[in-house]
Amino acid sequence: MFPRYFAWGAGTSAYQIEGGWQADGKGPSIWDAFCHRAGVTFGDGDVSCNSYELWEKDLECIQQLGLTHYRLSLSWARLLPDGTTQHINQKGVQYYNKVINDLLACNVSPMVTLYHFDLPQALQAQGGWKSPEIVKLFDSYAKFCFQTFGNRVKLWLTINEPYVCAKFGYEDGIHAPGLKEPGISAYLVAHNMLRAHAMAWHSYDSFYRAKQKGKVSLAINSDWLEPSLSGCSEDIDACERLLAFTLGWFAWPVFKTGDYPEIMRSAIDDQSKKLGYNGSSRLPSFFKDEPPVLGTADFFALNYYTSRKVKPGRGSDVMSMKSDRGVEEVLDPSWPISGPPWLAVAPHGLRNLLKYIKDTFNNPAVYITENGFAQVGPLLMEDAERSGFYKNTIMEVAKAIQEDGVDVGGYFAWSLLDNFEWADGYSVRFGLFHVNFEDAKLSRTIYQSGREYAKIILKHK
Ligand code: GAL
Repeated sequence: MFPRYFAWGAGTSAYQIEGGWQADGKGPSIWDAFCHRAGVTFGDGDVSCNSYELWEKDLECIQQLGLTHYRLSLSWARLLPDGTTQHINQKGVQYYNKVINDLLACNVSPMVTLYHFDLPQALQAQGGWKSPEIVKLFDSYAKFCFQTFGNRVKLWLTINEPYVCAKFGYEDGIHAPGLKEPGISAYLVAHNMLRAHAMAWHSYDSFYRAKQKGKVSLAINSDWLEPSLSGCSEDIDACERLLAFTLGWFAWPVFKTGDYPEIMRSAIDDQSKKLGYNGSSRLPSFFKDEPPVLGTADFFALNYYTSRKVKPGRGSDVMSMKSDRGVEEVLDPSWPISGPPWLAVAPHGLRNLLKYIKDTFNNPAVYITENGFAQVGPLLMEDAERSGFYKNTIMEVAKAIQEDGVDVGGYFAWSLLDNFEWADGYSVRFGLFHVNFEDAKLSRTIYQSGREYAKIILKHK
């Protein structure tokens, strides 16, 4: 049912699990700064699951599930406290060396994300992702990681969810660095992220690929979208527009044309005109003399959580991404809500999205690098709903492979452990293992869904 070398994985990210926020010479990241700012009420990742000290407990969880792959991220500021290769924190290098070596010793392949939301604060102080300088700084960091860990890591992701970094961090201000600069900065930040990703991919391609033989991509998140009223042409257009502003924003440049989707650019430029904004396009352009962004992914890495119905939105005279998109999203009442209100459970959407990716981007190999279901209290250790969710979703992936011919290389559940769920703090739990944050030992206990996922893996691997 699943190909022989299918990757059965689970994921985490550095800030969400490691803790040790200033241990052994680590520099602060924008998430440290954001969470420590007065008025932020959702807690912080200062300790979290303390995986910096309790990594071996995580490894036991990984083995208990029988994973073939584990997705983790590196903390840039743990390796390079001021963000540059001028200062290397050897303790950070040792930590990730141990993690990678332990995984390999247990026959688990690491998939490593270089950037999962946690920019070194020192670089934020120099303009962060809004500054064009970041592109080279990211490339140096990436090269340092390829050089240091690439003899053992064969699957790399440069940036996790540039959409979320840009929109939540710079448009809505609900993620670090917490800026609310609607209609402008998110486009710039996303642009620099794409340029940084492309430069790092080219570096890998030129200097490391021949010897290390790995693969590099970036993780793109997208909902599946359906017209609110099926067959209604305005709703179909709205769907297409929103898809251009989410998946297309990153997938078009990397997988299709080397540039942003035309509908995205015209929607933004039309809106600028309407609002009397006279500057140059708010959506930047790629320079011809830079290494091309087209073709800079060796596989398609998809993070999928949920689906939406879409219809045209009411016009607005405020400059924002919302008014640029001009759509309204609605939930289908037949899709049950998992923990947080945004997470409507719609496993069928994953199959549709996989088929869409196959058809639109010329049948790339796809890894589902995140997919999951959350609980918000009261927490159930016998979490039958989440068990059912994983079973149904994995069935949809099987159908995408068998019936639609999608080349799916792996599936990574989010997440191995309950952890710091960004602006939702510890109240939203995605783990296959429960973490007792009240207990000094931060004990990990498998949920029913973890046991069920282990059975699915055992049956198929
Ligand atoms: C993604 C993110 C993960 C995790 C997940 C669940 O956007 O990459 O870090 O938090 O959402 O909300």
